[in-house]
Amino acid sequence: MKYLSSLSKKNLAKQTCLLRVDFNIENTDLHGYEHGLTRIPLRVERVLPTIKFLIDRGARVVILSHRGRPKTQISADSQRKSALSQRKSAFTLKPFAKILSKLLKKPVQFIDFNFRKSDFLKLRNKIENFPPGSIFLLENLRFLPEEEKNDKKFAQRLALLGDFYVNDAFSVSHRAHASVVAITQFLPSYVGLALENELKKLNQVMKSPKKPLIIIIGGAKISDKIGVIKNFLKKADWFLLGGGVANTFLAAQKLPVGQSLYEETMIPLARQLLKSKKIILPIDSVVSKGAILDIGPKTIKKYTEIIKSAKTIIWNGPMGYIEAKRFRKGTNAIAKAIVKSRAFAVIGGGETTSIMSKVKGQKSKVFISTGGGAMLEYLAGKKLPGIEALKYRRKSALNQRQSAS
Ligand code: 3PG
Ligand code: MG
Repeated sequence: MKYLSSLSKKNLAKQTCLLRVDFNIENTDLHGYEHGLTRIPLRVERVLPTIKFLIDRGARVVILSHRGRPKTQISADSQRKSALSQRKSAFTLKPFAKILSKLLKKPVQFIDFNFRKSDFLKLRNKIENFPPGSIFLLENLRFLPEEEKNDKKFAQRLALLGDFYVNDAFSVSHRAHASVVAITQFLPSYVGLALENELKKLNQVMKSPKKPLIIIIGGAKISDKIGVIKNFLKKADWFLLGGGVANTFLAAQKLPVGQSLYEETMIPLARQLLKSKKIILPIDSVVSKGAILDIGPKTIKKYTEIIKSAKTIIWNGPMGYIEAKRFRKGTNAIAKAIVKSRAFAVIGGGETTSIMSKVKGQKSKVFISTGGGAMLEYLAGKKLPGIEALKYRRKSALNQRQSAS
C-alpha cells in the first residue's frame, strides 16, 4: 500500500486530491455540534489533519463522502419529486461545507449534483482554475445509484476530477462502493493519515496484544459480533458480555430472559461457545417490565475487577439500554474502569464511543475507532474491500482518463 504520509510538497503541489471521508453523521449529532452542545464529531475531527496536510503542501482537495442510506427514502415513482427533496434535506452534505470552513478557517466550496450525467471534465477544469490549497466538498454520493453499485463507468468519470485518490474513511471501507473500491482502478491511490493510524491501532490489538487481552461485547445483536468472538477465541483471555448479546447466551443456558432482547436463531451457536470457559456472563441484571435492560451491581463489580487486570481491551457495544439514562450505569462503569486501567484499549461502535467520550480522565491509552461495522469485520479477520483495493496495481491513470473523456 502507498501512504499519503510519505508524500511531500514536491509530489503534491498543484495536484488535485480526491479525498474519501466518512461524514455519515446523524443530524442530531450535527445539530448538537452546531449549537455548541457537543464536541466536533469524531469522523470530522479525524480527517482535519489530512486536509491540512494536503493544502499545506499545495494540493487542491475534493472531498467525497456518503451520508445515510437515502435511496430507501424513495417509495414510488409518483412521489419521486417530493421524496427527492425530502431525502436531500435529510442526507445532504451541505452543512459540512460550513463546518469544515469554520474549522479550517478557509472557504469550502460545496458542489451539488446538477451536473450529474454531464461533463465531469468541465467540472475538473473549473476546479483546476482555483488556486492550490482550495477545498471542495461534493454532495452525498449515495444520491447517485451508481455509488452503491460500485459502478466502474461512474468511478472512471469521478476519477476525472482529480490526479490522485486518498481513502481516509476506515468506517466505510467494508463497503464495495464506487468511491471506495472502483475508483482505485483509475487513479494512483493512497492510505490517508487517519486510515493509516486506524489500521495501526487495530493491527496492534490483533497481531501482538499484550496479555491479558479482555474483549467486552454488548449491544443488541450477537450476529453482528460473532465473527470477532470466533476470531479471538484462542487469543483472548476473557470475553465480558452484556446487552442483547449476553441475553442470547443466558437463553442458551435456559435461564428465563422474559421480554428481553435476544436472538432465538443464535442460541445453538451460543450454546457451542459456552463450552469455552472464557465467556463471562452477567451474574445479575437490572430488569424493568420483564426485560433485562442493564447489567447489575454484582456484575459491574466482577467486570471491573477483570478489567483492572487487563493489558489490552477491545470493546464494542453497550451493556444495556443506554437510550434511557437509568439503564446507562453498567456501560458508564465499564467506560470508567477502562480509563482507570493500565490497558491499551480499542473501542468502536457509535453508542459505545459516545459514552466513552463523556468519561473524564486520562484517555491517552484509549483509541476510539471511527468504525462500527467496519471495525467488527476487520477484527473478525475479514478482508475489507476498500483496504484490499488500495493494494492493487492499476493501469496508468492518464490512459484511463483519456479513454473516459
Ligand atoms: C457507517 O456509519 O457504519 C458507515 O458510514 C457505513 O454506512 P452504511 O452502513 O450505511 O453502509
Ligand atoms: Mg452502519
